[in-house]
Amino acid sequence: MILPMLTSELPAALVTKRIYPEAIELLKAHAEIDYVDNDDGLSPDELIERALGKQAIVSQLVDRFTAEVLSKIDVKIIANVAVGFDNIDVPAATQRGIVVTNTPGVLTDTTADFAFALLMAAARRVTEADAFVRSGKWNRWSIDLMVGRDVHHRTLGILGMGRIGQAMARRGSGFSMRVLYHDSAPLAPEVERELKAQFATKERVLRESDFVSIHVPLNDATRHFIGEKELRMMKPEAILINTARGPIVDEAALARALREHSIAAAAIDVFEREPEVLPELLQCPNAVLAPHIGSASVDTRKKMSMMAAENVVAMLQGVCPPNILNPGAFRTEA
Ligand code: GLV
Repeated sequence: MILPMLTSELPAALVTKRIYPEAIELLKAHAEIDYVDNDDGLSPDELIERALGKQAIVSQLVDRFTAEVLSKIDVKIIANVAVGFDNIDVPAATQRGIVVTNTPGVLTDTTADFAFALLMAAARRVTEADAFVRSGKWNRWSIDLMVGRDVHHRTLGILGMGRIGQAMARRGSGFSMRVLYHDSAPLAPEVERELKAQFATKERVLRESDFVSIHVPLNDATRHFIGEKELRMMKPEAILINTARGPIVDEAALARALREHSIAAAAIDVFEREPEVLPELLQCPNAVLAPHIGSASVDTRKKMSMMAAENVVAMLQGVCPPNILNPGAFRTEA
């Protein structure tokens, strides 16, 4: 006799925060969903408790999977709705046989668009100008009112030349900028030619660039990659842009540099202790600040949600997820 499939026969999956409904629909066709349908975020204890009995977790960058949390959960996959995965101790997950996936590619151009928007906003003082007009202080035109800095024909320095760094280089060349970049190794010569970008040491990028845009991932080697020493290497007219991760920049040192005008401005989308922002930084008129929205276009956030759901579905079907970060953790059941 063939029994009808009971919903309880489906594997269980936890979704830790709100995602786009299309992704929930896809997941529902393959799993029993425990959906935390809000933006509050789960504490480590709540995460452990809600993960009990689940085979999959769809997580976001605020969910912290430390080695300790991972030692107490027993899922097959954590599918992070982000390209960054510094919130997950991937080696510890691998040891536990937990597959980790991210959402690369779909957010590259969207994030580079935003990094360039921040660069332009800081260079041409867009947020200051907006606040000035709204305040009613604008009473006449003058030759040096809100004068900023040119973008075209200036030098753009890129730290981290992965997908997003390269997309930023394309935008820089489109604005007739000279593009310098630093990474652990130079790109292939034909890629450099296509991007019109020149490899340089980190120090040279910092010393020669009018705009320094950060595109490295956060890991032990890049924590405070830009600190007091690096900020001092930058030109007084230079502008720093960070759309990568907050802890890559020493925020207190940055606030000092902005206050003392040892650099001209900064445009920052990511912070060391999000959503807290250092009060000193809030006081700097030469800082453009955004609430971690680099990839925040409707289309891209939908694609990211779907990609995470597709990784979960693949895993539940015994297929290696397309965006696996730790292939060593993938095992098919015998
Ligand atoms: C956003 O910050 C991401 O890593 O996708």
